[in-house]
Amino acid sequence: MKTRITEMFGIEHPIIQGGMHYVGFAEMAAAVSNAGGLGIITGLTQGTPEKLANEIARCKDMTDKPFGVNLTFLPMMNAPDYPGLVRTIIEGGVKIVETAGNNPAQVLPFFKDAGVKVIHKCTSVRHSLKAQSIGCDAVSVDGFECGGHPGEDDIPNMILLPRAADELEIPFVASGGMADGRSLVASLAMGADGMNMGTRFIATQEAPVHENVKKAIVAASELDTRLVMRPLRNTERVMANDAVDELLRIEKEKGADLKFEDIIEQVAGVYPRIMTEGDMDAGAWSCGMVAGLINDIPTCKELIDSIMAEAEEIITKRLAGFQNA
Ligand SMILES: Cc1cc2nc3c(=O)[nH]c(=O)nc-3n(C[C@H](O)[C@H](O)[C@H](O)COP(=O)(O)O)c2cc1C
Repeated sequence: MKTRITEMFGIEHPIIQGGMHYVGFAEMAAAVSNAGGLGIITGLTQGTPEKLANEIARCKDMTDKPFGVNLTFLPMMNAPDYPGLVRTIIEGGVKIVETAGNNPAQVLPFFKDAGVKVIHKCTSVRHSLKAQSIGCDAVSVDGFECGGHPGEDDIPNMILLPRAADELEIPFVASGGMADGRSLVASLAMGADGMNMGTRFIATQEAPVHENVKKAIVAASELDTRLVMRPLRNTERVMANDAVDELLRIEKEKGADLKFEDIIEQVAGVYPRIMTEGDMDAGAWSCGMVAGLINDIPTCKELIDSIMAEAEEIITKRLAGFQNA
């Protein structure tokens, strides 16, 4: 399938694996890229320029297809060496960057000069337009359904995607709640040039996470996510578990007085314990409502091939059938 996104990134299928903390290692990115999608290494999981350089080199050993790096800009107590990470991406020869969080205006000139394409993740039309106006090449539009940070507007993709299509000139991918060929065809119908998936890619053979994480996603239904950190205006959609119950109890108790320190035990530094050690109640970890659509743990190639086959079947049979009736 050829779209503005496959053309821009030099990939076979319009399917992107979004950056994911403690999931987006070289193994994940390479498996998605080798299957014809766009795999993305999560920059901040590596943390330092040296470690990121090593991860980029490992990914290059595993694939000769294009892959990207995610750079998430968050307000943090100990900010990482962003200039160093930007330099490492450019010197590592990576040609695609997914930015997320704060406005990436400061780093754009460096990427532009180096011929790196930037796709910025946005949860609203106004942020997407801002990304377009500062020179981003594409946007990833994340609806309210998404795992991770859906923003504070709570607009689901049935509304957000056509709104984005009405306003944007640069191409965008639909993100949040995407799982299969139906998701891809719906995304294309609503004006996107492809789709981005997070949660779905965690439940794959190659995802370098503990088996417990994959099993938890398969076992979960669409009712099993919760929104946390809403009072801090840093909303995150996470999988329900004991730690999240406790977090929500603290949020309720503290009300408007809630501070980050009150919930630090449930949210800070928990990813290695969950993703690597498989301690599923260690804290809050991002997960999308799409868990309700995930019932298997295929390889990335099986997943992407089945998405493309289902999309083609829907377009050429189901939809074309309506036209001829
Ligand atoms: C476990 C997990 C960790 C994530 N970490 C990041 C991250 O570090 N940076 C980022 O930009 N997005 C992150 N995301 C968001 C994904 O890139 C993607 O936008 C989102 O998962 C899409 O929604 P879906 O899960 O419904 O497919 C994360 C998502 C998950 C599930």
